[in-house]
Amino acid sequence: MLFSGKALSVQMLEDGIAELKFDLEGESVNKFNRQTVSEFSEALDAIEKAGDIKGLLLTSGKGVFIVGADITEFGGAFSAGPEGISELMNKNNENINRLEDLPFPTAVAINGYALGGGFEVCLGCDFRVMGDKAKVGLPEVKLGLIPGWGGTVRLPRVIGVDGAAEWIAAGKEQRPDAALAAHAVDAVVATEQLKAAALKLLGRAIAGELDYKERREIKKSPIPMNDTEALMAFFTTKAFVGQQAGKNYPSPVNAVTSIEQGYKLGRDEALAIEQQQFIASAQTGTAKSLVGLFLNDQKVGKVAKNWEKKADKQIERAAVLGAGIMGGGIAYQSASKGTPIKMKDIDQKGIDLGLNEANKLLAKMVERGRMTPAKMGEVLNRIEPTLSYDGFENIDIVVEAVVENPKVKHAVLKEVETKVTEDTVIASNTSTISIDHLAEPLARPENFLGMHFFNPVHKMPLVEVIRGEKTSETAVARVVAYANKMGKKAIVVRDCPGFLVNRVLFPYFAGFAMLVRDGADFQEVDKVMERWGWPMGPAYLMDVVGIDTGVHAEQVMAEGFPDRMGKTFTAASDVMYEAGRYGQKNGKGFYNYEEDKKGRPKKVASEESYELLKPHVAERREFEKDEIIARMMVPMATELARCLEEGIVESPAEADMALIYGIGFPPFRGGIFAWLDSIGMDNFVKMAEQFSDLGKLYEPTEGMREMAKNGTTYYGDK
Ligand SMILES: NC(=O)c1ccc[n+]([C@@H]2O[C@H](COP(=O)([O-])OP(=O)(O)OC[C@H]3O[C@@H](n4cnc5c(N)ncnc54)[C@H](O)[C@@H]3O)[C@@H](O)[C@H]2O)c1
Repeated sequence: MLFSGKALSVQMLEDGIAELKFDLEGESVNKFNRQTVSEFSEALDAIEKAGDIKGLLLTSGKGVFIVGADITEFGGAFSAGPEGISELMNKNNENINRLEDLPFPTAVAINGYALGGGFEVCLGCDFRVMGDKAKVGLPEVKLGLIPGWGGTVRLPRVIGVDGAAEWIAAGKEQRPDAALAAHAVDAVVATEQLKAAALKLLGRAIAGELDYKERREIKKSPIPMNDTEALMAFFTTKAFVGQQAGKNYPSPVNAVTSIEQGYKLGRDEALAIEQQQFIASAQTGTAKSLVGLFLNDQKVGKVAKNWEKKADKQIERAAVLGAGIMGGGIAYQSASKGTPIKMKDIDQKGIDLGLNEANKLLAKMVERGRMTPAKMGEVLNRIEPTLSYDGFENIDIVVEAVVENPKVKHAVLKEVETKVTEDTVIASNTSTISIDHLAEPLARPENFLGMHFFNPVHKMPLVEVIRGEKTSETAVARVVAYANKMGKKAIVVRDCPGFLVNRVLFPYFAGFAMLVRDGADFQEVDKVMERWGWPMGPAYLMDVVGIDTGVHAEQVMAEGFPDRMGKTFTAASDVMYEAGRYGQKNGKGFYNYEEDKKGRPKKVASEESYELLKPHVAERREFEKDEIIARMMVPMATELARCLEEGIVESPAEADMALIYGIGFPPFRGGIFAWLDSIGMDNFVKMAEQFSDLGKLYEPTEGMREMAKNGTTYYGDK
């Protein structure tokens, strides 16, 4: 053994070949944490000193190669400023350069994920052999960063400038066929043959059959491109990448800039340029938010896994009541992730609709080559449409998704309780009705809770799991386990009107209603909020949700929180509702909807809406962009703070992720609490106080005032 550490080891194989194996102790994956980086350096010392090595093979002792840097180490390093960032990056840059400069050929056997730094170390090798199940890629832009260990230097020299810019700016994982076609790897073989294939290649290089030195020279030299070619290539690429990413996500353009400024230089100078761009990216609020979001996502995943561990049994057979938009979506999602599901409706038409929806989604996957027709058949077979309760005695969970009417829901829930076993969990997909209220007629309220999916079910990652007063831990655990199996992000919350997501969304809509009442142009409000980062502004969102659904939910919220949400004027949404303008669903809401060439609804401005609003709103006037943002965001933020203080949601991380998964809160802001931290609570309180005459929705909570006084934040120093 030449070197033996906790993260990697080096040993001699036959024929003078050494094997450097990454195998991080106590972890399921390999990553470049400080320990791995430092041991990598020690291992290189040993390799350089050994003297009798003819070739080096890099392998992994785990199911993945290396998944990338250890993101939990970023926060501390990034907040230390440029020096802290350089310090984190330099050691491994040095390692990879040393690997590239060894006086004998090197090869890597990529057996599983080789992402970020994991792939950058592969690029430092002379030869790359990839397993047929492996994936490679440079996903740093997803964290608001750029590759910082030579990715923007070596990849363009290996696969060409255009390909590298595309790979890096999109940050996608690449499959073996794509990697081979791009010449990012030399061969793709079955995982079992990987090591032998890599050794063979290495052997040929040692024997002088393959010129490894020439490959190195290319990676270490300027890229042969003339100035005009380069000017054209970089100009168009930057414009395209910038437009795709949007101004709130600067790192893809920074990555292309790194390639552009480094292409005429040798390796070491180009690496220095890369580091400048890395530091610039790492210091943006976007990187801070996206790194925070990654960590929050892991935290949410861990909480859900812990719930799953508490489940005394798995959900093996499910049923959904109501085959409408939501019921059909739930059936599709359950079946496609392997849990058979009965889909019951009282109306054959409903069933046909539900099945048709599932069919359409599956057919699209088959069309795109992402599913075989046989698999499609299997999934459809797992959905059993029915008009009766036959077989419900074998069901582990019933998800109720009938119309949003408490009387109907009470009747349906009471009835289904008599058709299932005492152990069956019953969940309601209600979006507004209190779980405790729905539980009232039930004999076993401990088995009852909310399981709130979002529309469209197959696309929206969030499921709010709502515990009622009497809901048992077991019921929560089973439902979270089921949501996990469905590939959803489950967040457990307490019962209250609107639960978590709608409870904070409707104050935001109330802010919108007051702006329009006071003379703001709803299209202008949409524009400002979309520029702030929301995927759609409030008027457009209301149209997509459905004005009828929205108005109904507003009423529920008004009853639940009369002091803040009680209606004191005719809101714009009421005007639309009264005029039968229900939004996208009937082609008319705040906007009118026409079909585009692909048959999708396209919004166009509607004079009629303005005419309808006129008698109910003040004369049109201009609002400053900052005023619009404050009047929209203050009610949402204070309501979320209230939810945290009341224990509706357990942690800032879960609250922030719920809004990102559930309603598309702008990810580059990291979530509402992350946003509040970034502006400072004292500033937020001042912002809110400017609008105190608008009522209680603009009143910061006691907790917020306390934080403003003490200068504390939701995330501490993270
Ligand atoms: N549509 C959304 O965006 C959305 C989002 C989240 C939650 N939800 C909630 O999901 C539930 C369903 O909403 P939807 O939009 O799918 O409604 P929908 O009107 O599309 O479907 C309701 C279905 O329930 C059926 N139904 C009525 N009574 C029934 C009964 N006794 N037994 C079995 N089936 C019965 C109807 O025939 C219809 O097919 C509601 O509680 C709603 O608030 C809706």
